[in-house]
This record gives sequence, structure tokens and C-alpha cells, in this order.
Amino acid sequence: MKFQTRAIHVGNEKDPQTGAVVPPIHLATTFVQSVPGVWEEFDYSRSGNPTRANFEKTIGDLEGGVTGLAFASGMAAITNVMMSLRPGDQVLAGRDLYGGTYRLLHHVTKKFGITVQLVDTRELSQIEQAIEPATKLLWLETPGNPLLSITDLAGAIAIAHERGVMVGVDNTFATPVLTRPLELGADVVVHSATKFIGGHSDVLGGAVVAREKSLRDRLYFLQNATGSVLGPFESYLASRGLKTMTLRVREQCRSTQVLAEFLARHPRVTKVLYPGLASHPGHSIASRQMAGGFGAVLSFEVAGDIDVAKKVCTKTHLFQLAVSLGAVESLIEHPASMTHATYSPADRRASGIEDSLIRISVGLEDVDDLKEDLDQALSTAS
Ligand SMILES: Cc1ncc(COP(=O)(O)O)c(C=O)c1O
Repeated sequence: MKFQTRAIHVGNEKDPQTGAVVPPIHLATTFVQSVPGVWEEFDYSRSGNPTRANFEKTIGDLEGGVTGLAFASGMAAITNVMMSLRPGDQVLAGRDLYGGTYRLLHHVTKKFGITVQLVDTRELSQIEQAIEPATKLLWLETPGNPLLSITDLAGAIAIAHERGVMVGVDNTFATPVLTRPLELGADVVVHSATKFIGGHSDVLGGAVVAREKSLRDRLYFLQNATGSVLGPFESYLASRGLKTMTLRVREQCRSTQVLAEFLARHPRVTKVLYPGLASHPGHSIASRQMAGGFGAVLSFEVAGDIDVAKKVCTKTHLFQLAVSLGAVESLIEHPASMTHATYSPADRRASGIEDSLIRISVGLEDVDDLKEDLDQALSTAS
């Protein structure tokens, strides 16, 4: 079956008891066993829940890996992968990194003896040079957050694997609709299901999908031991989101391309970061790595200082000033003071997150209205 058919039918088998075309939501926290010490498929909801299992089956299938693992948030999913490391191990991560992941790696996992080094993963030679004997995990985001930098996944994975380094990809921005890192050889993919998977700004969740069962089993052990699982109702919403994700993402990509081209011509905009623009340094890699679109997030720099950028964010009417992305509602935010305020000023400068940078997530409103909204905000803010 093709991708979109699987998004609807895998993990969504009709309820055998009632014939309901939508599987029921199982709220039970515990499950009756027939014999002591011989566990049935489900025993306790932290260890496994039928509604969560359905979502895990679908996302695993769509990413091209084994059955996934669903978490209470994207950060819980990322933490799960980090917990597979040991004291003394090093994570090599891209500079263009979600602020929450930056905070986890610099202020939490460090306390457990896991170090972090940031590199510009757009340059494969930088990855090659940065790998040390302690490096055990290469962590990639492509497109990166918030600069939409593109990393050549196949190239980076080949370098890491040659040196025995595991590769994890945060596929939140691309979604499996556009890019499937496991098919390019990555070992594990994570998602903030809060974004394109849920798609409606009404569910907080995360997912991990491993390419091989042995890694999945290790991560499952950690998930069950630590307990940050996705609840049944959230699992249901995530499953429902997956059914329409392809259509939403494709349409959102189309609108984002239109807005990127519009902003690139706008007199009050000095720079547009979107891999769909031919002028973007990662455009040719993105063209072969992303199928049918370049994502629904773009960033741009405005002419003027931080105050002008912040003002633009408060002058839009349809683009709501809020963090997060990937939903049907368009959002606008100021990375330096919001999503990436967790960066040290030095790392923010080194990464190129300017004070005049604005990030937008493009939803499903009519693109003409979105264009007009940005235009009036840019005109009134300066
Ligand atoms: C790329 C990326 N990864 C991970 C996360 C964290 O996900 P959550 O907010 O669901 O914990 C986010 C949240 O914005 C994100 O943008």
C-alpha cells in the first residue's frame, strides 16, 4: 500500500467487537491476566496501551522503521534517546537546533556525564573533523530550527556510521511525508507529535521510531522504566492527525513557497530562509531529500533592530504570536526572545540567530489572506 493509504489503514483496523471503523479509546490503566507471571499482550498502561499501540504502529510504518514508541511530548521522546547513552559519551549535534533540545543537552544530560558539541552540519567536513572517540550519537535536524538549514542526511549518516556513531534525526519539521531518514540509513527518528502529526494545536505528544528492533527494545525498556508515555486520548488525537497529515503538509508547503517568494521581494525584508528558494544554500540537497515540498516553516530577517522585529510579531492578525508550528493555524514568533532564548548569547551569535529574525509557521488559511497580513504588519511596524 502507498504512504497515504497506510496513514489511514495501518493501526486503524476496525474494532473486531463492534465493527466500529474508528478503534475505541482504551482508558483502562490495568488489564486482567489469566495466570500469574505469564503476561498477556497488555498488562498495565505504562507498559502498553491498545490506543497508544495503534498510533505507535502507524508512525512506525510511515517512517519505514519498526513499531514506534509514543511519548508525553517531543522532549520526552528526545530524552528517551539520550538516556540510551552512558556517562562519558558525547552527542554531536547540529548548530541549528530546537531551543528545548539545546537546553536538554546543555543543562540536563550534561549532569549525567554526557557531553555535547555543536557543529555546522551543513558542512559534512565539519562533522567528520568533530567526531571524537567519545562521540556516540550524531543528532540532526533538517530543516533546522529556526534557520531552516539543510543537512545532507545520506552523507552525514555515511560519515557517522563509518566511525561507529549512531545517528538520530529530529524529523518534526520535515515529517515522513517529505523525508524518511530511516530509509536513508539513520538509526532513529524522533518527532514532536505536537506539530504536524497532531496538526491542530490540541495535542502534546512525541514519538520515537527506530530502524531496528534491537534499538527499539532498548528504548522501550527505558520508556517503561521512566514512564513518560502518551496518554490514550492524546494517542487517539495523534492517530487521527496522521490520517490527514499528507494533505495538510502538502498544502502548507505550497502556501509557504508562495509566502517565501513574496517575502523575498518585500522591501522591508532583508533575508528569507526557506529551502524552497533557489537562493537557499541547501536548495539542491533539499530538492532531492524532500519529496514534494520544502516544509511549512520559514524564517526571515526584517530591516531594523530587535524592536522592529518584535513589533512585526505583534502587528499580524492571522499569524498569532505563539511558539509551536505545524498546525492549521498560522503562527509567528521571535526566536531570539522566545523559542531560542535558551541558547547562550555566544551560541546564538555563532548559530546566526539574529535579533531581527522572525519565524513563521504557515497554516491552512487562504494564502492571499496570509500574504496581506504579513504585508500590513511589515508596513505598520517600521
Ligand atoms: C524540532 C522540534 N523538536 C522537538 C520539539 C519539542 O517538542 P514538544 O514541545 O512536543 O516537547 C519541538 C518543539 O517546538 C521542535 O520544534
